[in-house]
Amino acid sequence: MSAGNPPRALTGREAQTEQFRTLLGRLGRGMSEPSMIVFGLRGVGKTVLLLEFESIADASGWTAPDPIEIRSDTDFRAELADAAYQALLRLDRRRALGERLKSFTGLLSGFKVGASAAGSLEFSFDPSAVGGSTGNLERDLTHLFVELGETAQEHETGVVFLIDEMQFLKRDEMEAIAAAMHRMSQKQLPIALAGAGLPQLPGLMVDAKSYAERLFSYPELGALSNDAARQALVEPAAAEGISYKTDALTRIVELSGCYAAFVQAYGKEAWNMAPDSPITLADVQAAEPVVQGKLDDEFFHVRFEKATPAERRYMAAMADLGDGPYRTGDIAKRLGSGVSSTSVHRDVLIKKGLIFSPDHGEVDFTVPHFSPFMRRRYPVAAVQSGHA
Ligand SMILES: Nc1ncnc2c1ncn2[C@@H]1O[C@H](COP(=O)(O)OP(=O)(O)OP(=O)(O)O)[C@@H](O)[C@H]1O
Ligand SMILES: [Mg+2]
Repeated sequence: MSAGNPPRALTGREAQTEQFRTLLGRLGRGMSEPSMIVFGLRGVGKTVLLLEFESIADASGWTAPDPIEIRSDTDFRAELADAAYQALLRLDRRRALGERLKSFTGLLSGFKVGASAAGSLEFSFDPSAVGGSTGNLERDLTHLFVELGETAQEHETGVVFLIDEMQFLKRDEMEAIAAAMHRMSQKQLPIALAGAGLPQLPGLMVDAKSYAERLFSYPELGALSNDAARQALVEPAAAEGISYKTDALTRIVELSGCYAAFVQAYGKEAWNMAPDSPITLADVQAAEPVVQGKLDDEFFHVRFEKATPAERRYMAAMADLGDGPYRTGDIAKRLGSGVSSTSVHRDVLIKKGLIFSPDHGEVDFTVPHFSPFMRRRYPVAAVQSGHA
């Protein structure tokens, strides 16, 4: 699948892009405004929205270093230092930074401590430089952001950090980023954060720092509206002189549930099937099994593979109960065990980003349409007999 590939028409996200423009505008005028942490299920369009934010930032004269994608083995310190350094270089290009650079080099060199050998940060620094790092992530990050924010402000611009898959940050990293952004808001400095992650992200941030609840705004990204899904198909086709029959569009909307990743997958395959314009219902019907096979292999199976046999049994039991959300007690009962003995699987599946807890005592899949996939490919009986 083309994860994170910008669509030819990004539709239905006007509210979020408008909010982002307002954020940059207000911070640029020295006012405070909550930064944005968007959350949603797999494939709803979080990554491409961050990329859209990046181009909005560029067009607004802000500096947006390359988005950081968090993985379980990400060296967050090194990645952030790298992003801050990128921002600094771009600010430097606007005007010589002079004395400021000295305190930065001290700070950034400290950030490199603990970085992997492959860390991309390479610049010469003066070890005797003032204001070096302390080794405490929260303090260092706050210090770094203050320096960067003041520098950006002097240059009448701002810096926005883009962080994807943010739910994979460790707790102390979430604490540090919240503390640093808290300081930005107190000092009304033009540093913004646009984060994205799975539905568990807002809860994790608030667990890390309770004030994160008011510090950030948490827009939820869901499936596209019916109109936006149609527009995502019609617009790029029209640019090539191709149209869709109405019933063909209706069928794609139905099959995809308006989830962006599925809309794109059906659109692409129906387009390939169609001998010429317009794309018809028959083309969509011909595309259906092909898309289903591709989604099973590329969208669903890669997620399934992250789970151990015991975790797969847990997910099979969930799916066996129908569509979510699921009560953890019901899953345990389906597995023939107690809630406490199965909770370890639940916790690891949440950490791996396969499921989340929408409410106390409940879980659901983070991947839309995952439940029918499990029933289709890995029903309880198959998983229990060790065929998966
Ligand atoms: N608003 C939109 N309009 C049209 N297409 C979109 C939109 N948002 C996303 N897409 C398309 O949907 C697919 C999934 O998008 P993306 O990879 O950004 O999702 P995601 O939420 O980051 O998923 P994951 O959680 O798996 O990383 C991509 O092909 C993307 O181009
Ligand atoms: Mg993504």
